[in-house]
Amino acid sequence: MKEIYDHARELMKGYCRVCPECNGRACRGEVPGMGGLGTASAFKDNLDALKEVRFNMRLVHDVAEPDTRVTILGKELDLPVLAAPIGGVSFNMGGKISEEDYVKAIIRGCKEKGIMGCTGDGVPEFIHGAALAEIKASGGHGIPFIKPWEDKEFFEKIEKVRNTGASIVGMDIDAAGLVTLKQMGRPVSPKGVEKLGEIIKKTDMTFILKGVLTVEDAVAAADAGADAIVVSNHGGRVLDFTPGAARVLPRIARAVGDRITVLADGGVRSGGDVLKLLALGADAVMIGRPFSVAALGGLKEGVTAYIDKIKMELVQAMVLTGTQRADQVKDTILFRS
Ligand SMILES: Cc1cc2nc3c(=O)[nH]c(=O)nc-3n(C[C@H](O)[C@H](O)[C@H](O)COP(=O)(O)O)c2cc1C
Repeated sequence: MKEIYDHARELMKGYCRVCPECNGRACRGEVPGMGGLGTASAFKDNLDALKEVRFNMRLVHDVAEPDTRVTILGKELDLPVLAAPIGGVSFNMGGKISEEDYVKAIIRGCKEKGIMGCTGDGVPEFIHGAALAEIKASGGHGIPFIKPWEDKEFFEKIEKVRNTGASIVGMDIDAAGLVTLKQMGRPVSPKGVEKLGEIIKKTDMTFILKGVLTVEDAVAAADAGADAIVVSNHGGRVLDFTPGAARVLPRIARAVGDRITVLADGGVRSGGDVLKLLALGADAVMIGRPFSVAALGGLKEGVTAYIDKIKMELVQAMVLTGTQRADQVKDTILFRS
C-alpha cells in the first residue's frame, strides 16, 4: 500500500495529507476537503469511540478459518464491508482524477472483490451522473445515494437510478445539514416520518436511510418502511459534536436490529474496527476516506489492494477472538472490565 499512499499524497495535495492515521486532526475544519466540520470533534469521536472498544483475546478454540461472508439486503458480500458513498472529487480531493475515474475505481474494485461500492450525490450534477453511468456499466452492482432534495429532484434522480439496474438505493438524510449544499443555495431538508414513508413507498426499491444517530430516528426509519439504516455522523461533516457511531450503535441495534438491517460507519480504519462494529450490533460496515485515498492512489488496483488488506486484518481479528462467522458475531468477544 505504501506506493498507493505516496501517490495519493501527491495527487491530493492541499486536500488530504494521507496521514499515518486518518483521524481528522490535520484536516480539522476542512469542508469542502476531506476533513470534519468545525473542530472536527465528530470526525475524531468516530475513531475515539472505536479505540475505547477492546477485544477479549481467545486462542483456546477451533476457529482457524473464519467465514467472512455476510448477506445484506439480499446481496452476498465476501466481507461485511461496503465502500461508503463519497462524491465531489474536484472540490473535496483536488480533482487530479475525474469523478468518472473515481467511481469506476470504487465500483469495479469492490465488484472484483465481491463487495459493493456506494456512490455519492451533490452539486454539480455530474457527481450523480458519473455514479449512475458507472453503476449501469457494472450491471447495477452498486448502491447510489441521493440527497434529501425536494420531491421533484429526488424522484427525477430515482427514475435515473431505476435505469441503471441497481436494486438498492439510499438517502443520506443528514446531508440536510451540509454546508457545501447550503453555500450553493440548494434545497435539502429533513423529512418527517409520514413524508419519509411516502418517499420510501413511491421509491419502491430496497431503501437505506443514512445518517441515523438516535434510537428515535432509527425507530422512525423502521416505521417509515426503510429496509436499512446507516448509523453515521457523515464522517463528522454535518454537525460538530455528534457522537462517534460506535457510541450509539449498541442502543440503536438493540432497538431496531430485529426489524431492519443495521449498517454503521465512521472511523473504521482496520479489519479489527470492522469486527468491533459487528460486535456492537452492525450487520455490515461502511468505510469512507480510506477508500478515497486508495482510489486516488491506485485507481481500481488501489481499491482491490485496500480490500485485501482489510480482509486479512478481519480474518486475523476473527481468529484471535474465536469468531467463526462474520454474520454471527457475539458481543462477548468484547472486553468489559
Ligand atoms: C469528501 C467526502 C464526501 C462525502 N460525500 C458523501 C455523499 O455524497 N453522500 C453520503 O451519503 N455520504 C458522503 N460522505 C460521508 C461518507 O459516506 C461516510 O459516512 C464517512 O466518510 C464515513 O467516515 P470515514 O470517512 O471516517 O470512514 C462523504 C464523506 C467525505 C469525506
